[in-house]
Amino acid sequence: MTKIAIILGSTRPGRNGEAVARWVLDAARQRTDADFELVDVADFDFPLLDEPVPASMGGYTKPHTLSWADTIRGFDGFIFVTAEYNHGIPGALKNAIDFIYAEWNNKAAGFVSYGSAGGVRAVEHLRGVMAELQIADVRAHVFLSLATEFENYKVFTPTPERADSLTPVSTRSLPGARH
Ligand SMILES: Cc1cc2nc3c(=O)[nH]c(=O)nc-3n(C[C@H](O)[C@H](O)[C@H](O)COP(=O)(O)O)c2cc1C
Repeated sequence: MTKIAIILGSTRPGRNGEAVARWVLDAARQRTDADFELVDVADFDFPLLDEPVPASMGGYTKPHTLSWADTIRGFDGFIFVTAEYNHGIPGALKNAIDFIYAEWNNKAAGFVSYGSAGGVRAVEHLRGVMAELQIADVRAHVFLSLATEFENYKVFTPTPERADSLTPVSTRSLPGARH
């Protein structure tokens, strides 16, 4: 069975990302054509990148890198759940990505983003990172505005339209909509 990781990239205390990632996981688990697991960057306790050699050359030395590599190696694809921080992805997510290389290669990724402006600029940033990791990214993208999908910018309450955007275009009730 194809295995897909839902990668939660914010490690911030009180992060909105956890509710979003769990929502994605619940929706994904309605499917029977792949297995889905939540992978939380916060669980790996990464320091700032402390490998002496660039990940693309292999030779990982640190326990957190080896554990992260073992985890990511086991998946065929990824759904990145990312916030937007200063028009890019959170530093914690970029740092985690940078620790390994081969384990990302020749896989596929989709995106769910959130932020004041839906996190769309973070995903555009992430698409460039995907290219360097040899990950094929899909066009469809679920974006969630803090203003409309979160009560008081804090409590995640997705509208039906956003929930709908998690399903493939071909099976959705909004023909022609761009996501
Ligand atoms: C350091 C920082 C920078 C941010 N920059 C942006 C931004 O550039 N654009 C945006 O739409 N939201 C921005 N936000 C709002 C976040 O996207 C929003 O707070 C989101 O909930 C953060 O994700 P988290 O709660 O899972 O950490 C920023 C938040 C933080 C903490």
